[in-house]
Amino acid sequence: MPSTSLVGKSTPCGWCVVKMITTSQTSGGNFCTRYLVESQNGDIAFMKAMDLTRVMNGSLEDIQALINEYLFERNILAYCKDEKMSKVVVPLSAGELINNQFQAPLNRVFYIVFEKAEGDLREVYLEKQHDDWFSFFKAMHHVCIAAEQLHRAGIAHQDIKPSNILHFAENQSKIGDLGRVTDIQGKSPFINMSFPGDYRYAPLEVRYGITVQEFSDRFLADIYAIGSLVYQTVMGISLTAALANESEKISPNVFQRDYRESLVIHISSFSILMKEFYEACENIFGNKIAEVVTGVVGEMCYPDYEKRGAPKFIARPMKLNARRYTSKMATVIRLFYIEGLISHVK
Ligand SMILES: Nc1ncnc2c1ncn2[C@@H]1O[C@H](COP(=O)(O)OP(=O)(O)OP(=O)(O)O)[C@@H](O)[C@H]1O
Ligand SMILES: [Mg+2]
Repeated sequence: MPSTSLVGKSTPCGWCVVKMITTSQTSGGNFCTRYLVESQNGDIAFMKAMDLTRVMNGSLEDIQALINEYLFERNILAYCKDEKMSKVVVPLSAGELINNQFQAPLNRVFYIVFEKAEGDLREVYLEKQHDDWFSFFKAMHHVCIAAEQLHRAGIAHQDIKPSNILHFAENQSKIGDLGRVTDIQGKSPFINMSFPGDYRYAPLEVRYGITVQEFSDRFLADIYAIGSLVYQTVMGISLTAALANESEKISPNVFQRDYRESLVIHISSFSILMKEFYEACENIFGNKIAEVVTGVVGEMCYPDYEKRGAPKFIARPMKLNARRYTSKMATVIRLFYIEGLISHVK
């Protein structure tokens, strides 16, 4: 395929493609091929490339839709860069290159070059043993800042999951993969989808087909997803899956019922899960940190979406303001120092 045979070629802006990255990818996403690229002065960066092969047998609309998705991701990344969102991955360049091993129009490859991360949260914290919880909570602090930055600009990420959290040198983390975002102006190609992200990380209401009524409803999924990153890293299983398992133990047909009707079951499953979660946190971090962390996950992932978020606020945007969780994560980090848990971590 044109986008899978780029090693040795260069982009018009001067990045030379040096190596294809073949580590596992989670979902389909944009079906991008990933590369390491190098500039003339030796800087290394990361490139995602895609071509039109996937829509080759489709209609003109399919081709147009794919190009629109690419253009939208590129534009929104450029916007976030212009707005200096410090915790959103930075694009270095983007454009189109021609792979002349193929004939037009299939020779067209669309690419985006990014600053290169050291790894993603899935690789660093989920797929291997680690005990660097301090760095993990620093990463979560940065993810909350990223959500604040995006939400403030009227952008909902909609696909926050372990493989989309990128780690950089010196304990810096950023949100990546803006491939499924929606924006308040409605320019996103996904604006008509209530939830464009990965269903494995979707909140409960998505499974019940509850549709988005107003733009701020989309923050519900982002806030849920951040809380569930914390849960999954401690417990080793995604919260969405754990909650479904627990509720189906109580009532096997729970997902055939109406959302409101089934909530009582999900809420009692959730409290069982939060009890186990607290105990796991207490074992690792002690009770002070366990209390804050369980409180955060309990608020961010609460099964009743109308009650999700800061308990003392009823109205949005305050109820779903990510800033609250930025400051909670800062508290967790501070407690690591106070509790003397810092000595044996980086
Ligand atoms: N800037 C980067 N530096 C290093 N690795 C990156 C970078 N951006 C993404 N990656 C890696 O590539 C993977 C896929 O990137 P991304 O999520 O942006 O693409 P995608 O096409 O939406 O794929 P997926 O469906 O797996 O989410 C990430 O999970 C991460 O491991
Ligand atoms: Mg991704």
